[in-house]
Amino acid sequence: HIYAAFIEADRWKLYLKGLGVTLEVSFFAALLGILIGTIAAFLKLSTRKNGSKTIASRIASAYIDIIRGTPTTVQLLIMWSGILATCKNSVLIASLTFGINSGAYVAEIVRAGILAVDKGQMEAGRSLGLNKFQTMRYIIIPQAFKSILPPLGNEFIVLIKETSIVGYVGMSDLTRVANQMTSKLFDVFTPLLGIAFIYFVLTKVLSILLAKLERRLRKSDNR
Ligand code: ARG
Repeated sequence: HIYAAFIEADRWKLYLKGLGVTLEVSFFAALLGILIGTIAAFLKLSTRKNGSKTIASRIASAYIDIIRGTPTTVQLLIMWSGILATCKNSVLIASLTFGINSGAYVAEIVRAGILAVDKGQMEAGRSLGLNKFQTMRYIIIPQAFKSILPPLGNEFIVLIKETSIVGYVGMSDLTRVANQMTSKLFDVFTPLLGIAFIYFVLTKVLSILLAKLERRLRKSDNR
């Protein structure tokens, strides 16, 4: 029937819009998360001449602790109805929330990656006449990157799935569209299994791409 076809056509547009919201929020949050996380990692690692922690290091630690210690959903609600209550751009609010959230996890991933590089590498760089910054830039970070990549990929996957809570603040992402569809169609399983499959394809494609990159990086690895 024409009418039924119209509904069908409309329905798939809704899913596409939902997918758009999911991807948009995930993408901007991932970028922000990498930026914040990298900065926070270096701040947390920073020490004074006498080896004690800097104030910036303590601030970074506090940020990581607070973000990891509270649910993402609660953070989203605080941003939505508190800090950014007057902001009308919901994608911006969600991207900021997830970006700040992801940054805390990325910080620990980056920090662990840097600490995993043997101490002797810094000493070797310094004894070759490179300064601390150059040794970081040319010797430590390229090596750290290889161990950072797999958990970072995992973080992106978590991020894509985690955005499924934005329905809490009324955003029509993939999950919310499907959830609304279940009551409209009196069919619980088709919409939900459908989006489960879409999420799976998204994360699978991502993990395949990351595995490729990993393999390429390992070619130059002869540890
Ligand atoms: N869903 C959990 C929470 O709300 C875990 C979040 C993990 N997030 C991450 N980006 N690794 O706290």
